[in-house]
Amino acid sequence: MHLSLKTIADPAAHRCSCLVLPVFEEGKLPLATAAVNKVCNGRITKLVKSEHFSGAPGKSVLLHAPAGVAAERVLLIGAGKAQGSDPGGFRKMISHAFSALKTTGSSDAVFMLSDVDTIGRDALWQAQQLGLLATTGDYRYTRTLSRPEPGPRLNRVVAGLSKPCSAKVTRAMARALVEGGAIGAGMNMTRELGNLPANICTPSYLASQARALARGNAALGCKVLDEKKTKELGMGALLSVTAGTREPAQLIVLEYRGGARHAAPQVLVGKGVTFDSGGISLKPGAAMDEMKFDMCGAASVLGTMSAITRLKPRLNVVGIIAACENMPSGSATRPGDVVRSMAGITIEVLNTDAEGRLILCDALSYAARYKPAAIIDIATLTGACVVALGKHASGLFSNDEELASELLAAGNLAHDRAWQMPLWDDYQEQLKSNFADVANIGGPGAGSVTAACFLSRFAKNQRWAHLDIAGSAWDNGAAKGATGRPVGLLTRYLLSQAARS
Ligand code: BES
Ligand code: MN
Ligand code: ZN
Repeated sequence: MHLSLKTIADPAAHRCSCLVLPVFEEGKLPLATAAVNKVCNGRITKLVKSEHFSGAPGKSVLLHAPAGVAAERVLLIGAGKAQGSDPGGFRKMISHAFSALKTTGSSDAVFMLSDVDTIGRDALWQAQQLGLLATTGDYRYTRTLSRPEPGPRLNRVVAGLSKPCSAKVTRAMARALVEGGAIGAGMNMTRELGNLPANICTPSYLASQARALARGNAALGCKVLDEKKTKELGMGALLSVTAGTREPAQLIVLEYRGGARHAAPQVLVGKGVTFDSGGISLKPGAAMDEMKFDMCGAASVLGTMSAITRLKPRLNVVGIIAACENMPSGSATRPGDVVRSMAGITIEVLNTDAEGRLILCDALSYAARYKPAAIIDIATLTGACVVALGKHASGLFSNDEELASELLAAGNLAHDRAWQMPLWDDYQEQLKSNFADVANIGGPGAGSVTAACFLSRFAKNQRWAHLDIAGSAWDNGAAKGATGRPVGLLTRYLLSQAARS
């Protein structure tokens, strides 16, 4: 997707395949829209009336070749209240515009958004969201379709400015567009990896993708530890999950060096279970296919690293991915088995389906070796988190309130939101085992909290946060597919860390 910024004083005279013009509620027109309306003898006001166009975000009408207008089409999009709408409304307006544009066959589109206000957000935020939604709106899954949908595609999006701005503002706006594009591309990478079936997207495939990302990029290093190496490190918890599989587990490490040589890195740790059958504690059959998405935490680490390598912030970031399958077989771990983690803590595996925490706990111990500024793990960890928060919010748990508020703020700004959940000691009791230091499940109550409590035991003395993305990482039903979350939250967090130092 080509993204650019252009001063367009006379939008009616601007040639393009589609001119996108906002219309407020009650038929009020922003300046650019009013100017075009005047040129075409009030066709816009007439259409708004005759179609009972409400101007609500998420609504649009298309005008074909209106007389006096150079554009081949005009797409009128609902922009909400003239005084300003909330960030969610702005995003709804823009993403709807991109779905509507898909049906028009336009190859390029010009958005005239100068007079549209978003409550609590500036024009830079709007430009970034435009770049992001243009890019994510262009994603289509085609990899395993023998006949992908043909047809022309939107490949150019222009943010039109009604009047010239200072060079400084123009530069900042262009940067915001590009930033949005880079985050959107990172999200698309995360979505593609999530959507790929588990017979293609294996742990080794994830490793090859990480290597490909690092190839030819001097600021990004990649190393992959095989099972032999993880055994030497004492990662008995991770190895217990992969015990029943044919596909070898991979511990993938990406190191982005953008900061000072010895500056403590931010470490992202992703759960990469490429298929979670439950193991010997086999899952029921319904919707089991969706367990190919159980590597979305890992995919979000790759997507974020991809956005970061494009945006080149001045900080160090390490991405660690624990990748394996969870399968039943004669060599699989049994319920009741006791395994020893890299941290030396013994774990009673009461349920082999609570595998995410087993691979993550060893990855967290490995992460501590970097003496990080913060460790954030991202995991499709519990069905209980979906029950608690649904798909709109990721669950956030942290042993550090400052880190928690930074992540919440990043999520709000990116509109990739998280909601903080408790991590009180009181819940730790549920993890008592008679046969090991800790059990891997905590009984029926507060499943997402006890999972986080389990992880917290491996992040002692670290500034650590855990994002449970079981609900936010993919959509189900007709729109089944990975969402690319929480790449927006993570990238925004990392960029704000770079701005601080
Ligand atoms: N990957 C699942 C969590 C999950 C389930 C995410 C459904 C999204 C939708 C995880 O490995 C798992 O199986 N968790 C169990 C834990 C239980 C055995 C304590 C769960 O949530 O049922
Ligand atoms: Mn599981
Ligand atoms: Zn899982």
